[in-house]
Amino acid sequence: MGRVLVTRRLPDGGLEPLAGHGHEIVGPNDDDTPYAADELHAYARTCDAIVSLLTDRIDADVLRAGADGGRLRVVANVAVGYDNIDVRAASEYGITVCNTPGVLDDTTADTAFLLILAASRLATTAETDLRTGAWKGWAVTQYLGRDVHGATLGIVGYGRIGRAVARRATGFGMRVVHHARRPTSEPGYVADLDELLAEADIVSLHTPGGADTHHLIDARRLALMKPTAVLVNTARGTVVDELALAEALHAGALFAVGLDVYEREPVIEPRLLSAPRTVLLPHIGSASQATRTRMATMATSAVATVLSGGTPPNVVTPG
Ligand code: DGY
Repeated sequence: MGRVLVTRRLPDGGLEPLAGHGHEIVGPNDDDTPYAADELHAYARTCDAIVSLLTDRIDADVLRAGADGGRLRVVANVAVGYDNIDVRAASEYGITVCNTPGVLDDTTADTAFLLILAASRLATTAETDLRTGAWKGWAVTQYLGRDVHGATLGIVGYGRIGRAVARRATGFGMRVVHHARRPTSEPGYVADLDELLAEADIVSLHTPGGADTHHLIDARRLALMKPTAVLVNTARGTVVDELALAEALHAGALFAVGLDVYEREPVIEPRLLSAPRTVLLPHIGSASQATRTRMATMATSAVATVLSGGTPPNVVTPG
């Protein structure tokens, strides 16, 4: 039987696939704080598997420690994104990396839509006024947002989650265009990201994180967007230059933003916190009871499969 590090608390039932196979589970910390780098190294040397979260940096050093220890065979991330793991190093050391695709698409798309609606209709600004007593009664000119119905939605990254957002948008009477790295040959495909940004009333980001998409939306691209546009990010914080975004909002160069992810979580750029017309959520994209349980079970099942000599369907390491 294997020794499995589970770095953080999982939803109820999430450990069953491991317990069912009799694996020894170590971790998490009693207070659910992430392990420090040296602790991850030490566990990597002595464990057969790691069930990680996006708050764990599984870098080349951790993976090398695993390889040196001679036991580590699999790292399963309880997330569809895996930009916290050095997948190339894992491949070099023959360590399998798994993620949780497919089970969180609709929940994350719901969150993107929550942000599309809340940011376009200035929900946070209006609610904050109500809660703080700043709302002095109804007026025909107050809290005037942008209509979502009839707007053009530009989806950047057209994988499973981007498509789930597109389906919702159709129901809201929106026109949908999309951009992806490779042509989708589907209606609404726009090859040039700059063109999509200039055309859309609302832009929703659904690319992976990592070096390839770092600051994909930078100051130059923000300036291409309409001053009436709304930007929504439920992908990864690093996709947007957060400071440039905050400055665009302060300058009135964008209408509003809805964010669920940030460049340096849990630290939020102070200029963003003080910017007007922002809806800011603490990375809750997939946070429903059912979906988080499915994610945990998918990751722990993958570990159980690898440790019993099989190949799970959700492997991201190349061959
Ligand atoms: C992921 O899965 O990558 C999210 O960011 C957490 O649901």
